[in-house]
Amino acid sequence: MNQPSPAYRVTVFGAGYIGLVAGACFAELGHSVTVRDIQPERIAALHAGSVPIYEPGLAALIARNTARLHFTLDAEEAVRDAEVVFVCVDTPPMASGDADLSRVWAVIEALTEATHLTAVVMKSTVPVGTGTRVRKALDASGLAHVHYASNPEFTAEGRAVEDFLRPDRIVIGADDDTVAKLLVDLHHGVDAPAEIMDVASAEMVKLTANALLATKISFTNEIAALCEATGADITKVTRATGMDHRLGPHFMQAGLGYGGSCFPKDSRALRALASNAGHTFPLLSAVIDVNDLQPRRSVKRLAHELGGLAGRTVALLGMTFKPGTDDMREAPSTVIASRLLAEGAHVRCWDPVAPDLHHEPWASTDRCADLHGALADADAALIATEWPHLREADWRHCATLMRAPVLFDGRNLLDPDHMRDLGYTYLSVGRPPVRRQAP
Ligand code: UGA
Repeated sequence: MNQPSPAYRVTVFGAGYIGLVAGACFAELGHSVTVRDIQPERIAALHAGSVPIYEPGLAALIARNTARLHFTLDAEEAVRDAEVVFVCVDTPPMASGDADLSRVWAVIEALTEATHLTAVVMKSTVPVGTGTRVRKALDASGLAHVHYASNPEFTAEGRAVEDFLRPDRIVIGADDDTVAKLLVDLHHGVDAPAEIMDVASAEMVKLTANALLATKISFTNEIAALCEATGADITKVTRATGMDHRLGPHFMQAGLGYGGSCFPKDSRALRALASNAGHTFPLLSAVIDVNDLQPRRSVKRLAHELGGLAGRTVALLGMTFKPGTDDMREAPSTVIASRLLAEGAHVRCWDPVAPDLHHEPWASTDRCADLHGALADADAALIATEWPHLREADWRHCATLMRAPVLFDGRNLLDPDHMRDLGYTYLSVGRPPVRRQAP
């Protein structure tokens, strides 16, 4: 990686998926980085040399850059020498759907002791207009000389390091040319075009990109439902549709809907932002409704196939919102587990990396350490996360473990004809079901 000229003293507030990756990557680019978090166990883990989140490549990146990376709980220490502060704290939805910015404001309040500070840069996903409010808050706390910029993040969990170091573009929303140039310098070594614009537009780019990706997913899931009703196969439909270069093949994977810490929250926040501005956004509302329906529909279809779920044992395969992460936030599996339990099923779950969860609905499920344990004597199985382990599993052997091999593949991971040959009744999303042949 090229060394930047000059290297900056950077402080990152928030050691979550965005902040920790940004901190490690800025260290990789040659900057001296302090990462501050409010969770003592997170900072203790980092001091002990372990990485508190599962993100491929991150542990190696942190290990390689320990000399340039510092971790602290202490906000005062974190800002004392900082030249640039990145705000990477979470902005969870409030009951109203609006983003809760209290953690952002706590960071801004902590900056008054930052005597070397040149710029504050927002990476947290925030409503459009936040930049103007932060500017006023900085001015009011004697930091009128400090520049402000928005630098939204487009990294996806599970490939965040790669996305950060090799992005499609770097979006910079800047108050002025000085801070725009500073951000370009900070990214020296990242080979991507810098799109420089005003702060409000940069804030809008982030929300637009996530909402459009979510729209593509919900649209695909709607077409999948139509495929089920008409006998078409969604995988063939999306493959051929996505070959049109104007549409592209990405985010057209039918399934249980989108989860995670971003799409559900950001789509609701954009709808709330529109409402606050006096606009309805029926298209986005439909995207959200379709997504809410997907996991519930899967349970209804499975119940129909089994003639009811009461007293049945169902193996829930995969818990995290997508493979390659241990993140359970807004995972469709949580809704599925709740619905299965509410219908009277006994739920056994398996996931290779999901944490142990002691709250409902997980507290009422049995967690199995291995796939075969989850499937033993089960009446049905439901794939909720497309882990490679499931694609590569010995499904011939798995069929012998189950009471009656009924499989609902919520991620269209497996081949229907092959599953029928192995003796399964196999349901998936947007593809014709195949049923076990009578012996
Ligand atoms: C998403 C965006 O992809 C990133 O660009 C963005 O930076 C990030 O949110 C953020 O705002 O921080 P992420 O939430 O990590 O990243 O996950 P994705 O890989 O985008 O997947 C989101 C959900 O959509 C998953 O539940 C996935 O299973 C689902 N999905 C994705 C589908 O159901 N179908 C698809 O075709 C693609």
